[in-house]
This record gives sequence, structure tokens and C-alpha cells, in this order.
Amino acid sequence: MYVFLHYSDRPHYNMTTSKNTSPACTADFERPPGEFFFGNARFVNQTPLTYSLSVRERFGDWIEFSAFFAPVTVRWYQLTHPCAVEHVLQKHQNRYRKPDLFNDSVGLMTGNGILTSEGEQWMHNRRLAQPAFHRQHISTLADLMVGCCDELLQKWQKLDDGSVIDLHKELVGLTFNIAGQALFGADLGHDGTGFGDALRDAFEFINYKMTNYPMTPPLWLPLKRNQHFKEAKNQLDTVVLKIIEQRRHNNFSQNDFLGLLLNARDEVSGEGMNDQQLKDEAITLLVAAHDTVAAALSWTFYLLAKNPLEDRNFYDEVSGALAGQSPNLQMMEKTPYAKMVFEEALRLYPPAWGQPRQALVDDEIEGRHLPKGAIISLSQWVTHRHPEFWDKPETFLPERFSQQNSASRPRFAYFPFGGGSRVCIGQHMAMMEGQIALCAIGSRYRFELTEEVTPDPTFTLIPKGGLHVRLRRRA
Ligand code: HEM
Repeated sequence: MYVFLHYSDRPHYNMTTSKNTSPACTADFERPPGEFFFGNARFVNQTPLTYSLSVRERFGDWIEFSAFFAPVTVRWYQLTHPCAVEHVLQKHQNRYRKPDLFNDSVGLMTGNGILTSEGEQWMHNRRLAQPAFHRQHISTLADLMVGCCDELLQKWQKLDDGSVIDLHKELVGLTFNIAGQALFGADLGHDGTGFGDALRDAFEFINYKMTNYPMTPPLWLPLKRNQHFKEAKNQLDTVVLKIIEQRRHNNFSQNDFLGLLLNARDEVSGEGMNDQQLKDEAITLLVAAHDTVAAALSWTFYLLAKNPLEDRNFYDEVSGALAGQSPNLQMMEKTPYAKMVFEEALRLYPPAWGQPRQALVDDEIEGRHLPKGAIISLSQWVTHRHPEFWDKPETFLPERFSQQNSASRPRFAYFPFGGGSRVCIGQHMAMMEGQIALCAIGSRYRFELTEEVTPDPTFTLIPKGGLHVRLRRRA
């Protein structure tokens, strides 16, 4: 869920220069050399993962990038120290917002939902949605998750041992199924409305918009790609609005997310959501919920495939805890290693691999002046590999997440779900779903990679070209 921070992000604040004017500011940012005309912009856009890591290694945690027109438009920073992450996401979160380059692109699909709204509108949305994410409600989803995993396993049962599958694609199908049922009580992948295809098409368009921001033609131009997106979006809206309308008339009290959102009232204003808001929120949740968890699970199985010792530890624990049964909620306490495996995968391959912010006011951070309007790039990808906080950062070591080993680590050395008041609303659901699916699938199968995979930094960090593996039934 990262966006490439572009030099020409539309500034809508009065920009100041980054000249250090405050007497309290005693330090300055490092400025890695860039190219003539483009500054650092092309490096960041074209190879964001390797470039952001390499500049941190060479220049440290406090970086100012240069870019075409930067001195008169917008300043652009990469901050990778946990104290900077804490400053921006939590301690002084009211001084920052998500930049337009994120809200404008993603908002084409999610409208004014929680993910892309700001200020009062966001607060209203979040207050209404929060009760649906209460641990108590989330724990009622366990059986549904297990059921969806069983369905997938039954499908694989028909395949020969050693068959090659695209595991990432299979897991996207699984998490989409779970999200659709948790949200609408419906299997949107196979409901005959073409909803799943429309969502994938719209998602692809958003990826394209974000990775090329702001160099894409406006949506009103009658281009094939624009047209295709508009049709997909129209289909999504029509299906969701129809479900909402049916719910309003028939089955108001169904206990899925939509049912809870339909009944939700803002404790401050007493207002509920109208159909447009409900539709935006439902699409937001579908988008935010399924791709991220599918990516996290894909990387988890990838890492287990590459690390036989850890895979053996995982299997010993999970086969003992399940004893041939499907997972359930109680089992989660008996599989702490599986949880650590999932957490370590979220460290090495965070689905939300970066978070952009924009400064609403002049600010000071660790003695450095950040001007109003500055674009800030926080990067899970880089901070999760910071050698000051992670021993052997590139190595897969689930034990890092034992209580004892985590105790001395700064809170924001690890932030796969963000932080502050905009922390991921679905993090408990994601952790539960991750652990359940990992145990359900991992207790029955292990996977052999048929080829090496590299991470693709799209909206979420996914395996480039899919994750092709050979299915191997566990003994
Ligand atoms: C492994 C899975 C997941 C990861 C890594 C993840 C990560 C994140 C991150 C980093 C943010 C903060 C974005 C920002 O502030 O810039 C976020 C926000 C959000 N996530 Fe997740 N997420 C996951 C799963 C889910 C699930 C399952 C749901 C819903 C069912 C969900 C719904 C949301 C929503 C609605 C927001 C916006 C919250 C707000 O702005 O108030 N996410 N997520």
C-alpha cells in the first residue's frame, strides 16, 4: 500500500522552502546525488525497494530527495528511523495527512471510504466502522475462515501430488472468498455478477495510476484503459448498491460487516451511513482486506519453502496442536510458533511496504526542520531491515518475535499495520485469518518453489508474476 512519491504531487498548501530557519533546528538532512533534471525521482519510481534500502545504507535515516522543480513545489523526504515513524504516525499525527497522490488514486475506487478520507469525514467513517472490528465480532469469523480454507483444500485434493499451481492466485481467491462472506455474507467470486473480475480490473487500474502518478491521462479522456476502468467501477457500484438496497428492505439484522454498518450510528452525531457511504465503505473493506492478507500468506509459504528447518518446527507444532482436525479459535493459543512465522513474514515482506504522508504545518523532527507541505516517505520495507534494530536483517528468524526477544525493540521498528489513529482497522482480523489459513493449509501441504521469485512493489507487495509451486502432501 505504498505510493511512489512524486516530485509533482499537487501542493495545496503554501509551501515554504526547506531552509533551516528555526533556531531549534541543529541538524540537516542528507541529500543523495541525483540525475540532471530528474533528481532522485526516477530511481525511486523505477526501483523503489533497492533504491530506498541503498540510500539508507549509504546516507542514513534522514534523507531529502531532490526532484525536478522541487525547490519551488514540494520537498520530499525518506525517514526510516523508528523514532521518525513514531513522530509522524503517532506522536504528532495531527501534523500530517495522507497526500493527494494516495487519496486521489485509490479514491477513484474507494470514494470517500475510511482508507482515503481525511479530517471530520474520516473520523465519522472510523467511528461508524470501529464496532464491526471489535475483537468479539472478529472472533465469530473463525468458522467462516476455516470453511473457506476447507473448500480450497478440497479443491486441491483432486490434484496429483507434485502438481504445479500459482499459490498466490489461489490465496487471492481464498481471501477474496473470506472477505466477501465476512462483509456481505455472499460468495462474490462465484455469484455470476462478474464482481470478482470487475474488482481485479479496477484494482489493476489503481495500481497503474499510483505507479505512474501523476503522469497518467485524466479519467475523462475517452481512452480504452479509462473506459475499461469506468465500466468495472460501475459494475462494482451497481452490485454493491443492489445488495445494500436488498438488505435495507429484507434482512437488516444479518450479522456480517454490512449488517453492522447498516445499523451503525455515530455516537457523536447520531447519524448512520447513507447508501453512497455504505457502498464506498464496503468496497474499501473488500479492497483493503483481501489482497493484503493474500500477499502476507504467499510470502509466508514462500519463506517456509526456503527454510526447511523453520518449516519442520512449524509443522511439528501445528500437527501436534491440530491432531488431524481443522483449526479453530482455541488452537491459536497452541500455535505460538505459527504466529511468529507469520509476523516474521510480515517483517520481511510487508504487504503495505511504505506509507506516504504530507506535513500540514512546519515541523521539527530530531533537530531537523520539515517544511509545511513536505512529502514524507515512511518505509516498512526499509525500517523492517534496519540493522540497528534487527540482527541479520535478511534472515528468516521467527524467534525474533518471542515475547522476550521483542521486549527491547522500539515500538516502531516494526509497523506492518501502520500506527496512530489511522492504524489498520482490520489488523486483528488479518492476524487471525493469517494464522488460521497458515495452519489449515500448512498442516496438509508443503510447497516447493519451481522458480525464484522477486517482490513486486505494486499497491501491495506481491510476488512478481505469481508464486509457482509444487504441491506436496504432508505425510
Ligand atoms: C496483512 C494484512 C494487512 C496489512 C499488512 C494491512 C496494512 C495496513 C496499513 C499499513 C494501514 C495504514 C495505511 C496508512 O495509514 O497509510 C492500513 C489501513 C487500513 N486497513 Fe489494513 N492491512 C491488512 C489487512 C486489513 C484487513 C483484513 C482489513 C479489513 C477487513 C483492513 C482494512 C483497513 C482499513 C479500512 C484501513 C484504513 C484505516 C484508516 O485510515 O482509518 N486491512 N492497513
